[in-house]
Amino acid sequence: ELSPSDTAKDAAARAAVALVQDGMRLGLGTGSTAVFMVHRLAERVRAEGLRLRCAATSRATCDLAGQLGLRIEELDEIGWLDLTIDGADEIDPDLNLIKGGGGAHLREKITAAASDRMVVIADPGKVVETLGAFHLPVEVIPFGLEVTRVHIQRLLDSAGLSQRPMLLRQRDGVVFRTDEDNVILDLSLDCIGDPAQLARGLSAIPGVVEHGLFLNMCQLALIGSPDGSVIELT
Ligand code: A5P
Repeated sequence: ELSPSDTAKDAAARAAVALVQDGMRLGLGTGSTAVFMVHRLAERVRAEGLRLRCAATSRATCDLAGQLGLRIEELDEIGWLDLTIDGADEIDPDLNLIKGGGGAHLREKITAAASDRMVVIADPGKVVETLGAFHLPVEVIPFGLEVTRVHIQRLLDSAGLSQRPMLLRQRDGVVFRTDEDNVILDLSLDCIGDPAQLARGLSAIPGVVEHGLFLNMCQLALIGSPDGSVIELT
């Protein structure tokens, strides 16, 4: 028996997997909503014998897909993808996103950027008017972390976002390391007035590998509801 929020995630996942056609090259996202998608995709592959080529956005998704009998290839073996299906932490009316709550946004962004189309799947709680209530994950190289933090603080000061907490992400009491062995700073910003400007500023800081703002990357968001229906945002 699924919880209301899991029913919503599964409904969105099913709708996205319905877009998959035989022969497609797919990017598989990360997170609890993407888990439903990988299950539904594996079901379709088993039932219909679809021939797909799949790349995963994280070790976790790669492992899950493998357990379900989906063969995962390196992104570079496939080269380019037709479609990436992934979750998100926030979705604004322009389909700009915050991602990286699961710490996988670097590989997720590389994968989405190598796809003709990115479709986001989510429950209604992810839809916002303005990005920023969810912390913004920023993947940072461990070398020089404290000076990188100073650069980020100066950027936030200049954007009128001073005095915002910048937490080094931990998991189970130890510093969280990404699949690329970097660390994550989670920025509490409340409200990001100009996401494009913030994205440019963060990307220009040497120790920043990638931030969780996905701007103009997603073409379709499928929002599931606890009653099993799905709304399309374009
Ligand atoms: C992973 O790093 C994230 O970008 C996820 O896509 C995001 O956190 C959504 O996860 P859930 O589906 O678990 O909310």
